[in-house]
Amino acid sequence: VGHIDDVQELRKAKPTTIPERFVRDRTERPVPATTLSQSSSIPIIDFSKLIKGNKEEFHNEILQLAAACEEWGFFQVINHGVDLNLLESIDKTAMEFFMLPLEEKQKYPMAPGTIQGYGQAFVFSEDQKLDWCNMFALGIEPQYIRNPKLWPKRPANFSETVELYSKEARKLCQNLLKYIAISLGLKGDVFEKLFGVAVQAIRMNYYPPCSRPDLVLGLSPHSDGSALTVLQQRKGYSVGLQILKDEKWVPVQPIPDALVINIGDSIEQVLTNGKYKSVEHRAVTHKEKDRLSIVTFYAPSYDVEIGPMQELVDENNPCKYRRYNHGEYSKHYVTNKLQGKRTLDFAK
Ligand code: SIN
Ligand code: FE2
Repeated sequence: VGHIDDVQELRKAKPTTIPERFVRDRTERPVPATTLSQSSSIPIIDFSKLIKGNKEEFHNEILQLAAACEEWGFFQVINHGVDLNLLESIDKTAMEFFMLPLEEKQKYPMAPGTIQGYGQAFVFSEDQKLDWCNMFALGIEPQYIRNPKLWPKRPANFSETVELYSKEARKLCQNLLKYIAISLGLKGDVFEKLFGVAVQAIRMNYYPPCSRPDLVLGLSPHSDGSALTVLQQRKGYSVGLQILKDEKWVPVQPIPDALVINIGDSIEQVLTNGKYKSVEHRAVTHKEKDRLSIVTFYAPSYDVEIGPMQELVDENNPCKYRRYNHGEYSKHYVTNKLQGKRTLDFAK
């Protein structure tokens, strides 16, 4: 990432027009918010009912979870059990990182075709439009995917906070996958057994304000290459996440202290043969407000081969996807630009 493509630096320079590389083609531009679908919002799942509800509450919540995964592919989880102080400290430390001088952040450059370090991921050609976003990403588990050189020395508590947060996020993913399996009528441990030692990564997205939010995108439309994604949005900042539902972009209004969960490609294709949806989403920017999101990706081990689960394939639900190695899929995912759900074609 050169100086000129760094959106925080651009913002500081206050150009009178938005550089061409950020200006989207007409069809891609975010429409004014008023024309977005207003009537619907993503479902809410009460995690405490799954963990410690009575039989009826548990059963009811499992049904809600099934509906959320089938119809929306997205939900907000409340009473998730992750320490709220930890949510606050990861926000704080991430913000401190993004506010460091560019030279400091560029000590941890993201190499092309990878998603670890600081920069713009998924950029492969000169004519590709750029997102109005700065990213910082790290591989977390298993240990061998870590690149210690990319773990920032500043702010001082950065690594420690990321470790603590990631442990909690991992637990949440594991628990949610258990309930997702149950909601499919499967045994709670099927995914855990299939996944092996799951791959986990964290990505922090910082979206500075943009003087022309009508022309740019914070993050290009895509579906996630993970099995499950946990997204945290910093309190009090702008709304930015939108998901594609019945061909309309629906904004996700953050509930304070809730986490947004979405189904990724491996659950759509592999496990559920398309029953649970990996839904296309994007981020938009705001004229005056900045925005920070912290995203955890949880996915099968790279050496695992996945394909639609036999239990979910029959005459009425013919097999829609092929079996493939998840490491190859991940590589395919990170070496292509974000383009809606096209990454899933790999599995067809
Ligand atoms: C993402 O899809 O990775 C993040 C979108 C957001 O910032 O809400
Ligand atoms: Fe995403």
